[in-house]
Amino acid sequence: MLTEHLTEAERQYYYMEQCHQWVKEQEEKLGRPLTASVITFGCQMNARDSEKLTGILEKIGYTMVDSEKADFVIYNTCTVRENANLRVYGRLGQMKQVKKKNPSMLIALCGCMMQEPEVVEKLKKSYRHVDLIFGTHNIFKFAELIYRRITENTMVIDIWKDTDQIVEDLPNDRKYPFKTGINIMFGCNNFCSYCIVPYVRGRERSRLPEDIIKEIENAVADGVVEIMLLGQNVNSYGKNLENPISFAELLRRICKIDGLLRVRFMTSHPKDLSDELIQVMSEEPKICSHLHLPLQSGSTRILTKMNRKYSKEDYLLLVDKLRKACPDISLTTDIIVGFPGETEEDFQETLDVVEKVGYDSAYTFIYSKRTGTPAAVMEDQVPEDVVKDRFNRLLDRVQTIAAKVCSRHENTVQDVLVEEVNSQDPSLVTGRMSNNTVVHFNGDESMIGKIVPVYLKSCKNFYYMGEAAADHK
Ligand code: 5AD
Ligand code: SF4
Repeated sequence: MLTEHLTEAERQYYYMEQCHQWVKEQEEKLGRPLTASVITFGCQMNARDSEKLTGILEKIGYTMVDSEKADFVIYNTCTVRENANLRVYGRLGQMKQVKKKNPSMLIALCGCMMQEPEVVEKLKKSYRHVDLIFGTHNIFKFAELIYRRITENTMVIDIWKDTDQIVEDLPNDRKYPFKTGINIMFGCNNFCSYCIVPYVRGRERSRLPEDIIKEIENAVADGVVEIMLLGQNVNSYGKNLENPISFAELLRRICKIDGLLRVRFMTSHPKDLSDELIQVMSEEPKICSHLHLPLQSGSTRILTKMNRKYSKEDYLLLVDKLRKACPDISLTTDIIVGFPGETEEDFQETLDVVEKVGYDSAYTFIYSKRTGTPAAVMEDQVPEDVVKDRFNRLLDRVQTIAAKVCSRHENTVQDVLVEEVNSQDPSLVTGRMSNNTVVHFNGDESMIGKIVPVYLKSCKNFYYMGEAAADHK
């Protein structure tokens, strides 16, 4: 069949069908189903990509399993910090033995780490048991690449440097039936000086609002009630479209979708967070009472070196504005400790912001040098013991403050979206409040995917034990 005249999605469905035939043949030969597993590292963006990979694998006929003892294992990698890379190499090393026992097994790698040429060189040299390698820009070609691997019978490598292509309408499999991530844009143009993302995810590209709305409407028709809009910098959504549209306007349109109950989004860059967005957040009840607003550092001097384009004062002012418009909003953040040249005074500024803002939670990271980023060649890299000490002090402050801040809803009734039966105590269910705090309370499977009012009895640092409000007297 000639595939040139087809749309990209149609071409990919053609390859899915070809692969499906192959899977069926293998299953007949082996007399058992072929299994596949997707192992995800990193952020929400990767989690979403993994749903797409799973959708394609299922379409091809694989039975999905949770274990790496599968006939097809794909690692969706992250490279934001060195640790993430080390973990992947560790897992791959172990897989060598596993593959020896099941020689027909296929191992694939994709995601951000594959966009680094040194990584691919290392894999080619020292990890010959890997069958398929691709990057972040061509995951829509997954089926075609599997087809190449099974027909050519050699290691297949396909990495693109960048792309302006966004392929719509491919299969995807949602991890939860009631909530999902929705990509609204890809890539990042900000070039924070420590960050490798703009190099591995490419330039910013926004999806068309019609395509986003259509995807959400379909998801809602399928039972989804909560969505998380995803992008590296959602606040600059739509600026480069032929018909520009603001993120705030996109949110307004999305909130009109009947049946959709909760809207979340991440990540927001403080420099692009508009007054229009704050207004929409205060007006639209469907928008959750939570904002993830990465601080990175509280020191204006360090923020400048990080190329973040805001000062400590700008950040605090923004928080003030948000709290005025949305008084009960929960704020969470990302903080990096030990950026090159960070002094004790700079670190104290970070602690000061932490105290002043009162985050519901903060993800704290030790600065990790990423080759190719401007910060990697900056002078004054901070010694490891100093960084560790600051990191521990920060973690301690963040946790103490978060425990206090989180408990502010104790003895109130809040809406909780039930996500699952508690794995440790099946008489309980676990869900999340609008502000993303986890709540465990009495309930059963029938509540999954429903929003239930819950009386919050006691706060245990970062989660609540509650009681279905209907049972509370
Ligand atoms: N070192 C440590 N943390 C980093 N992050 C991004 N790059 C690095 C790095 N080189 C953190 C930032 C970002 C989060 C996703 O990861 O805090 O917000
Ligand atoms: Fe990295 Fe900065 Fe882009 Fe976030 S905004 S992905 S930290 S470069």
